[in-house]
Amino acid sequence: MKVQPFEILNNHLTKQKPTTSKPNGKKIYIETYGCQMNLSDTEIVMSVLEDFGYKQTGEINNSDVILLNTCSVRDNAEKKINNRLVHLRSLKKKNPNMIIGILGCMAERLRDELKDVDLVVGPDEYRKLPQLIENVIETGEKGIAVKLSKVETYDDIIPLRKEGVSAWISVMRGCDKFCTYCVVPFTRGRERSRSYKSILSETLALRDNNIKEITLLGQNVNSYEYEDKKFPELLRIIAKAVPDMRIRFTTSHPYDLSDNLLEVMAENDNICKYIHLPVQSGSNRILALMNRLYTTQEYLKIIDKARALMPEIALSTDIIAGFPTETDEDHRQTLELMETVRYSGAYMFAYSPRENTKSYKMKDNVPAELKQERLAEIIEHQTKISLNENKKLIGKTKSVLLESYSKKSSDNLLGRTDCNRSVIIPSENYEIGDKIDVKIEKVNSATLFGKPIK
Ligand code: SAH
Ligand code: SF4
Ligand code: F3S
Repeated sequence: MKVQPFEILNNHLTKQKPTTSKPNGKKIYIETYGCQMNLSDTEIVMSVLEDFGYKQTGEINNSDVILLNTCSVRDNAEKKINNRLVHLRSLKKKNPNMIIGILGCMAERLRDELKDVDLVVGPDEYRKLPQLIENVIETGEKGIAVKLSKVETYDDIIPLRKEGVSAWISVMRGCDKFCTYCVVPFTRGRERSRSYKSILSETLALRDNNIKEITLLGQNVNSYEYEDKKFPELLRIIAKAVPDMRIRFTTSHPYDLSDNLLEVMAENDNICKYIHLPVQSGSNRILALMNRLYTTQEYLKIIDKARALMPEIALSTDIIAGFPTETDEDHRQTLELMETVRYSGAYMFAYSPRENTKSYKMKDNVPAELKQERLAEIIEHQTKISLNENKKLIGKTKSVLLESYSKKSSDNLLGRTDCNRSVIIPSENYEIGDKIDVKIEKVNSATLFGKPIK
């Protein structure tokens, strides 16, 4: 299963940590929007709240506190939340005691501009949530906590995790890259890394809890740095400590992706041969305006090195269509670069101007219609490339970790290859959590279909 960023993702959390607190009778309903960091933060939020006796519910109508963990990355992400708030306020009319809270990046970005909500809590202030909620209950006053921290990593908090065979581990927070279009450095603050010892002990605990795959998470995971350990060393330590677990990581900025990292990936069989390496544009002129700190030539060099060391490696990307001043020629260069790299997948977006970012001051001069046209062309191009790349796998045998039953039928199981492609197999006697060899028989642009090899 590929996590689709920027969609609503309801969590079904499961208890993987001992709790000593007495239930306080209050129920929390939480919805998570945005990236994997937000999903991971929701697990931290629920852990903090459960320690104070709150319980999670999947039933919105049955909850005392409704929390939205929000995303600000594009205007439509915020619009979605605003629409959701209209509905929540109507629920509150019927049940005035209901508490509505906004967490995450919108809380950080908009602060007291967020009207008619009871709580506004930014990404570094989740430890305060229980007190803030208690205060709303006692006084009815709105609670706002949006200070960003230079040190907060929630290092000592054991997340209350999603059910399943995979888990996220946040290893660093924040971003110092300041791409000119991006709100993340403003909503998440400065880069800081967790101690590798605590990451290692969390990994070992997950292994003992029968988790089969971990993803090391950070907005800019390759700039992990703690004492003398940088990201490649961290990855090596983790990979060696749990040889039977699959290890993934995201998101990589091309500027910080070192040869050393590629070597560590190649050396360790359990590190998945897959990198999400957002390129954003195929035009050097646009890349410079975006402050991406690399040229397409430098980017392609990384890809060449990765493929030389790991011929089977799959790469995915993010692309923005219609950045200010983007010409047809710039756009054509993006399509060309996609063709050269032959990504296994891509997240593709129309440029959305964000207040306070550097590019906000540039004129958003690619007309909306043209932006959408270019985006559609990029999407169509990628769909073709994905299909062709998937076709190359027909007849090959891939190791697949089974993650869930297929949405359509329990006769089928859904898993993922090492290179992060979704695979459907007949369930037979297999179980979620099994890692099996599958011969690929059929594909479309998004999914592989195969039979287990006995
Ligand atoms: N490094 C981050 C990127 C977060 S934002 C990470 O951890 O994943 C994810 C993607 O959203 C970016 O790679 C970029 O392609 C896109 N994006 C960010 N700001 C945008 C904007 N203002 N308009 C359109 N797309 C944007
Ligand atoms: Fe945003 Fe750039 Fe940082 Fe990614 S690297 S979070 S796109 S500023
Ligand atoms: Fe969105 Fe914040 Fe993630 S803006 S993409 S939720 S870091």
